[in-house]
Parts: sequence; structure tokens; C-alpha cells
Amino acid sequence: PRPILLTRHGESKDNVRGRIGGDTVLSDKGEIYAKKLSNFVEKRLKSERAASIWTSTLQRTILTASHLGGFPKIQWRALDEIYAGVCDGMTYEEIKKNMPEEYEARKKDKLRYRYPRGESYLDVIQRLEPVIIELERQRAPVVVISHQAVLRALYSYFADRPLKEVPHIEIPLHTIIEIQMGVSGVQEKRYKLMD
Ligand code: F6P
Repeated sequence: PRPILLTRHGESKDNVRGRIGGDTVLSDKGEIYAKKLSNFVEKRLKSERAASIWTSTLQRTILTASHLGGFPKIQWRALDEIYAGVCDGMTYEEIKKNMPEEYEARKKDKLRYRYPRGESYLDVIQRLEPVIIELERQRAPVVVISHQAVLRALYSYFADRPLKEVPHIEIPLHTIIEIQMGVSGVQEKRYKLMD
């Protein structure tokens, strides 16, 4: 069975500031994770010459992949983080204070809530379909470096979690989720490389 490794990008400068969305670079900590990830993947996929690295088109995932040599890299726009529309770049506190109705609406139905001029979780799930088809078709291991909401959706697909749980699944930073698809179903391991 071939593994699929899922990970968020290393901590970004916006993660540190609590800002959602955006396209910032990595923090110093995020940069350390990028190096640790590269060591881990090189050991884990040593003999897997056909493996590939998939990132989003956002800097923080591309930079997280930057130390990984020897594997082809593919950028997918479909792996970009959920787009928060008019709220892009805000903190949750700012949304709560300046747009309380939006904040409440999202709290009530996080799965279906669509940010004004942005996306909902259901939108993200839909745009991931081509990625999932391609992942299923691959024979070789794939490392997917993406974002919290997108990985909630991808993980839920492979782990067969119900739709309503998707927006609440824990996908911590600096942790690799390894999924193995075998005849007897799906197996999962988590490797926390740092805090
Ligand atoms: O805070 C990091 C982040 O990836 C944001 O860019 C994104 O809007 C958010 O997480 C998604 O998580 P949630 O749906 O819980 O707000």
C-alpha cells in the first residue's frame, strides 16, 4: 500500500498574528518545520522514486516544500485555503466586532456558511474533487502540503467522516497525517514533529 502524507504548511506570519487567509511567508518556527518535514519525508520515502509533492499556490505551502529536493512538485489552486472574501486578512475578533451577524451565522452553520464574496466548506469540498480523483489514481506516494480547512475536507474524505464533522476536525500545525489505503480499509498515523 502506498502512503498519502497530509500536512499543513509551517506556521506563517499570519498564523502568529491570528489573521485568516492572506499570503504571508513562514515565521521562524514555520521555517524550522519546513526543514524537519524535509528530513522526515526524505527518510520515509527514500526508496520511493516516483513520489511527488503537491502544494497550494500560496507562498506558505511552497516555502514549506522548499527544502524537499529530488521529488517533482505540483502546485494546485484547488489546494489553496478556504477564501474568506471580505474577511480575508481579519482576525476572528475583528469579524466578531465589525460583522457580528456574519460571525454568528458562521458559528451556527460552519459547513454551509459562505463568507461574503468568499467560500464555504461545501465550496471547498466541491473544488477538491479533481484533486481527490488524481490522488486516487496515483500509484506512488504523495505528500500534500496545504491548509487547515482544505485538509479537514481531504482527510474526511479518506477517513470517511460525516460531512457535518468536517469543519471541526483537528488538523494541528507541524503534524504529519499518514494515510495508508490497503485492502482492509484505511489506516492512519500521526507524527507530531514539533509544537
Ligand atoms: O487560521 C488559519 C486558517 O488556515 C485560515 O487561513 C482559515 O480561514 C482558517 O484557518 C480555517 O479554519 P476555520 O474554518 O476553523 O476558521
